[in-house]
Amino acid sequence: MTAPPAEGVRVAYDDLPDAVRGWVDEVLGESVVEAVTQPGGFSPGAAARVRTAGGRRAFVKAVSDELNPKTPDMHRMEARVTAALPAEAPVPRLLSSYDDGTWVGLLMQDIDGRQPVLPWRDDELHRVMATLDELSADLTPCPLPDAQEVGHEWRPEFTNWRDTAAAGPPEGLDDWSVRHLEQLADLESRWEDAARGDTLLHLDIRADNLLLTDDRVWVVDWPWAARGSPVFDLVGFCPSVAMQGGPEPAQTVAMSRIGRAADPDALTVLVATVAGYFAVGALAPPPPGLPTVRAFQAAQGEVALRWLVERTGWR
Ligand SMILES: Nc1ncnc2c1ncn2[C@@H]1O[C@H](COP(=O)(O)OP(=O)(O)OP(=O)(O)O)[C@@H](O)[C@H]1O
Ligand SMILES: [Mg+2]
Repeated sequence: MTAPPAEGVRVAYDDLPDAVRGWVDEVLGESVVEAVTQPGGFSPGAAARVRTAGGRRAFVKAVSDELNPKTPDMHRMEARVTAALPAEAPVPRLLSSYDDGTWVGLLMQDIDGRQPVLPWRDDELHRVMATLDELSADLTPCPLPDAQEVGHEWRPEFTNWRDTAAAGPPEGLDDWSVRHLEQLADLESRWEDAARGDTLLHLDIRADNLLLTDDRVWVVDWPWAARGSPVFDLVGFCPSVAMQGGPEPAQTVAMSRIGRAADPDALTVLVATVAGYFAVGALAPPPPGLPTVRAFQAAQGEVALRWLVERTGWR
């Protein structure tokens, strides 16, 4: 076993209940003899690459409602989403899923890859942006018939500027945002239209949810998928790239066909919305057990606000 990731403590594969490990052995047709815990993400569950005596390999994710009451439903959602994706999409195949009401597990195609090198390198970022173009082509029209509209699913999360304008600026909000609060609230009020589309979106694209092999880039971790415009996935991703040592968002967006074709007004609306999500969200007290999340949001908020200043030209 490798050390647990810094973000949270994962359950070791060997500590999963017998029934869960028995399901893995049964699906693979042989006993697992090696399990290597994978870094990245915030989930408290198990996430391990496993190998059987005969050399079969797979990736296992498993969690129980005792570890976190919300995560089992995220895994259930991820199972439904990944099962519905077309084979050509750059997403590991779902081999089997497990659900006994308490423990939920996913068994996926194993990807012998690695996360992008950080700080971001230009060649890897170009490969990732090309893959996101390919991904959105593969997932349009939306392959999941009952996928929720992103504007519906995420409506309560994206009222940050409007709430702030109504309640008055909180301690710690930057001067530019305070000066332009009404205009920001106005931009944000248009986000549901700007995000509308018929592509299945990932909604959590980030270095730790990408795996690079020699010939492909794979997109993992699909619990949040919803239907919308692929521009929204780009806007959500770009601030993390600059935060993690890559280029500014305008440059990253220009690396993608979808980014270059985006309607400029819709893009500005979505940048404003994401900026509010990060910059205002970062001012809230940290959620229990996740002390580093707010700093992570604040850093992405700063990038998103720089992007927005540039796009609006507001001084
Ligand atoms: N199919 C796979 N093959 C090999 N490694 C994988 C595979 N899927 C994911 N990984 C690795 O395991 C890590 C954790 O997986 P994943 O991102 O799906 O879960 P997570 O981040 O813990 O989930 P959550 O969103 O619930 O916090 C990834 O960052 C990636 O490095
Ligand atoms: Mg992840």
